Amino acid sequence: MGKLLGIEGVNKTYQSGLSSFQALTDIKLDINRGEIVVILGPSGSGKSTLINAIGGIDRVDSGTIHVDSEDIVSLNDNQLVHYRREKVGFVFQMYNLIPNLTVYENIELAANISKSPLTIDELIDAVGLTGMANRFPRELSGGQQQRVSIARAIVRKPELLLCDEPTGALDSKISKEILKLIQQINDKYNTTVLIITHNEAISAMADRVIALKDGKIESNTINKQPIEPEGIEW
Ligand SMILES: Nc1ncnc2c1ncn2[C@@H]1O[C@H](COP(=O)(O)OP(=O)(O)OP(=O)(O)O)[C@@H](O)[C@H]1O
Ligand SMILES: [Mg+2]
Repeated sequence: MGKLLGIEGVNKTYQSGLSSFQALTDIKLDINRGEIVVILGPSGSGKSTLINAIGGIDRVDSGTIHVDSEDIVSLNDNQLVHYRREKVGFVFQMYNLIPNLTVYENIELAANISKSPLTIDELIDAVGLTGMANRFPRELSGGQQQRVSIARAIVRKPELLLCDEPTGALDSKISKEILKLIQQINDKYNTTVLIITHNEAISAMADRVIALKDGKIESNTINKQPIEPEGIEW
């Protein structure tokens, strides 16, 4: 296994006007390569702030975030762009596909052909969208759109797949299918996966469960017997 992610003493405060809000306080967290980590916590507890900091789309005020041996907090903006492109894939609740591009083109846009381990057609098959390459997002169900966004997130074979409420807009049956796909990706490529959710039941599929409360880690628990997403009691 081995450590992929090492977070130490991370603090983040948002300023809005004269008031400030401490969104993360003294976060310390290690994550091993290949783990599926579920991050739980009430609305406003800092889940997205934490995952965005790990993904290099947001800055923190202090602390270190080592990915492999590189502290991404110390990177300049250009280096951070490079880090994101090389190592991180994002999946969001609302899919964020480009409406006037097809399935194929949405994935192609994120690709770096020379480095892609899979062709886009192979990837479309792998996420269960065979025959849909030329459809537009509006011609797909929510679950199918999320499959496109997952394909887009993994086209460069990232080490880290960061999912912020990936099933937040989907019903339980489709959610389990999406979680199954995420688990298959983890299995096949040894991708380290972080999943933010409000649904505590999803923690049953995780190797590690982190609970956040008021910007602090309340608990960090290893799940010795993660189950298949099909078995989650929704
Ligand atoms: N850009 C911002 N400016 C000011 N405050 C912010 C900003 N982004 C987030 N916050 C505040 O920081 C806190 C943590 O926000 P965050 O989005 O990380 O929560 P969350 O756990 O992801 O919540 P949710 O489950 O609702 O998505 C919240 O109180 C939020 O209002
Ligand atoms: Mg959030």
